[in-house]
Amino acid sequence: MKILAISCSPRINGNTVAMLEEVLRGARDKNADTELYSVSGKNLQPCDGCWACANSGKCHINDDMQELYEKIILADGLVFGTPIYFWGMTAQAKTILDRTIALNQPGQNLTNKVAGVIAVCGSLGLVDALKDFSYFFIQRRMLPANQVSAYLTNPEQLKEMAQCRKAACQLGEQIVQLVKMDFKYPEEYIQRHGAFGTHTR
Ligand SMILES: Cc1cc2nc3c(=O)[nH]c(=O)nc-3n(C[C@H](O)[C@H](O)[C@H](O)COP(=O)(O)O)c2cc1C
Repeated sequence: MKILAISCSPRINGNTVAMLEEVLRGARDKNADTELYSVSGKNLQPCDGCWACANSGKCHINDDMQELYEKIILADGLVFGTPIYFWGMTAQAKTILDRTIALNQPGQNLTNKVAGVIAVCGSLGLVDALKDFSYFFIQRRMLPANQVSAYLTNPEQLKEMAQCRKAACQLGEQIVQLVKMDFKYPEEYIQRHGAFGTHTR
């Protein structure tokens, strides 16, 4: 079982990574293989809306997202970590979510993958980011795990925040437990997703 943590902070040793390390510790305690991917220093271009991926199943943008696609496809469980930037997820986090539209094909989509969230901020703005991840998981037919948020301005603070570390660690354990449940949406939902939500006339 593979659990992939994606840090969407541009800071390689910041609060988001510190929290994700706790999550992965919990997952390893439950015998999962874990990997931490950081967007720091990566070339991640925004989706240009060309829709070529709808037919090819591939994104034409030749950047570091190509490597991340491979990691996402192989992962059974994902945990996204983002700092809050002006009441929302970082641009890098949104870029990754948008670019997964290219994984909208049988055999390489997000359907049935378990997904958790870590969000960190100094004071305000967690809820909007968590809501956006929730809609994304539901729309992509993923299985949502917990969302853990923390008020952190310095990773050193986390050493004194036992409950917060425990919640992050438990998220890792929970992701493994949920993957083991092997939840599957009915086959009809696994076909290529149509419109976003249901439209009636
Ligand atoms: C551009 C920018 C915008 C930010 N906006 C917010 C915000 O709206 N609310 C908040 O509480 N903290 C905000 N912060 C603070 C970060 O969310 C906070 O320091 C976080 O812990 C950084 O995580 P990191 O160390 O993983 O990068 C902002 C920081 C930056 C650089």
